[in-house]
Amino acid sequence: MMRIDIIAVVPGILDGPLNQSIVQRAQDKGIAGIHVHSLRDYTEDKYKSVDDYAYGGEAGMVIKIGPVFKVLEKLQKERDYDEIIYVTPDGKPFNQQTANRLSTLENIIILCGHYKGIDQRIRDHLVTLELSIGDYVLSAGELAAAVITDAVVRLIPGVLNDETSALTDSFQDHLLAPPVYTRPEVFRDWKVPPVLLSGNQKEIEQWRLEQSMQKTKANRPDLWKKTEEGTNPETT
Ligand code: ADE
Repeated sequence: MMRIDIIAVVPGILDGPLNQSIVQRAQDKGIAGIHVHSLRDYTEDKYKSVDDYAYGGEAGMVIKIGPVFKVLEKLQKERDYDEIIYVTPDGKPFNQQTANRLSTLENIIILCGHYKGIDQRIRDHLVTLELSIGDYVLSAGELAAAVITDAVVRLIPGVLNDETSALTDSFQDHLLAPPVYTRPEVFRDWKVPPVLLSGNQKEIEQWRLEQSMQKTKANRPDLWKKTEEGTNPETT
């Protein structure tokens, strides 16, 4: 069973995303265990605050090192962790490749940021990996932690019913996924592409590949460049 410990400032944000659908099913099946810890439970401050003013007069509050150290120390006494991840907009871009790698690990911690950030000494001495989920700033790191947890957990073998379905996701081969259709065959005058009704599996696969390539070129020229450079097994 893979274990994910999430250290949160506002744990309530995680209630919805992690207790529903596929991530909940993974927990029910005993494939993943997700444990949320409230940073506020580890503060020694009488007002239970986990943040303080920044040195140097920078505007905004900073998460203190004390409570983070305490919760990490407690968890690390209980088991070894493969990665201690801090989610932050100035981290390395999180992508499908990283999701694949994380899904093979046993124990990971995700530390959520808030306010102006966390004391740099936490990042220098305690964190092993810093990840950003995109070039925009969220007010709560918990949202980024939920995104990463979802992307990782669905890849653990046995979580998705049809095991092959994760293999045909967008990004697994540097291509975006092709379009999909379901009944009815005609809605108003909008038709399902005839090739999908042809029963010719070879032609269908060819069509899907062409659609994927077109979509990748149009929406993600950066990904398409990688495909053209020959790192994509589908097209080489
Ligand atoms: N916290 C705030 N914004 C974030 C982002 N884009 N990625 C990861 N963590 C964040």
